Amino acid sequence: MDNTIKLRSRGSPRLPGERYAPPAVFFHWAIALLIVIAYAAIIIKGYLPRGSAARALSLTIHEWAALAVLVLAVPRLLMRLIKGAPAALPGQAWWARAASSAAHLLLYLFMFAQPVLGYLTLNAQGHMLTIPGLDIPLPQLIGEDKQTSRSIKEIHETIGNAFYWVIGLHALAALWHHYFRRDDTLRRML
Ligand code: HEM
Ligand code: HEM
Repeated sequence: MDNTIKLRSRGSPRLPGERYAPPAVFFHWAIALLIVIAYAAIIIKGYLPRGSAARALSLTIHEWAALAVLVLAVPRLLMRLIKGAPAALPGQAWWARAASSAAHLLLYLFMFAQPVLGYLTLNAQGHMLTIPGLDIPLPQLIGEDKQTSRSIKEIHETIGNAFYWVIGLHALAALWHHYFRRDDTLRRML
């Protein structure tokens, strides 16, 4: 009996070495979920009445979900640098490999830069974040300054809006591999 076919029909990649390690899979989907929550919360906030408690709660959810992204991104990146990632699947064009590496690099940069910019926006607005229930304030990294807060917020919003596209294309590429190329790209991240 052909073992390769048997394994593939159960939905696993052909070789165990081709899979992302379980911690990498956990970090990938936990961070993706938190980013979706952060985006959803800031979109919902826009529809809520100014000054309402629900609007303030939406912003708080945005801030804490996105700060959790930063917290998880640190061990994720360290693990990636130490353990590496499975090699690209064979049979892919050079440009597809280059596009995928460029997207992954951008997504890693985003996981660090975007929460930091959001946090600095708050600092420059003079708002302190306090750990709920513990009353411990997070450190103030920069002083209050209206002009600085406006500039950083603008960068934060521009990057936030641009990454709808990067994340969307990344997800579409994964689905295209799965449903049209019918290879193991998505399966090895599950
Ligand atoms: C994955 C990380 C993050 C993403 C994807 C993200 C995305 C966004 C987006 C799309 C907007 C609205 C842009 C617009 O209205 O055009 C926004 C606004 C904002 N974000 Fe974030 N953000 C992240 C992290 C953070 C963090 C960590 C904080 C603070 C701790 C933060 C604080 C803010 C603030 C204060 C605003 C402006 C809200 C307003 O005045 O309407 N963000 N963010
Ligand atoms: C906010 C959402 C997301 C972020 C920030 C993100 C980020 C990343 C990053 C940085 C990698 C490279 C991992 C590494 O080599 O260390 C990756 C790989 C991957 N992602 Fe995502 N991702 C997101 C959402 C998604 C979604 C929604 C899907 C599926 C529909 C997906 C499917 C994949 C797959 C299949 C890989 C492995 C690609 C390969 O082996 O070449 N991702 N993702």
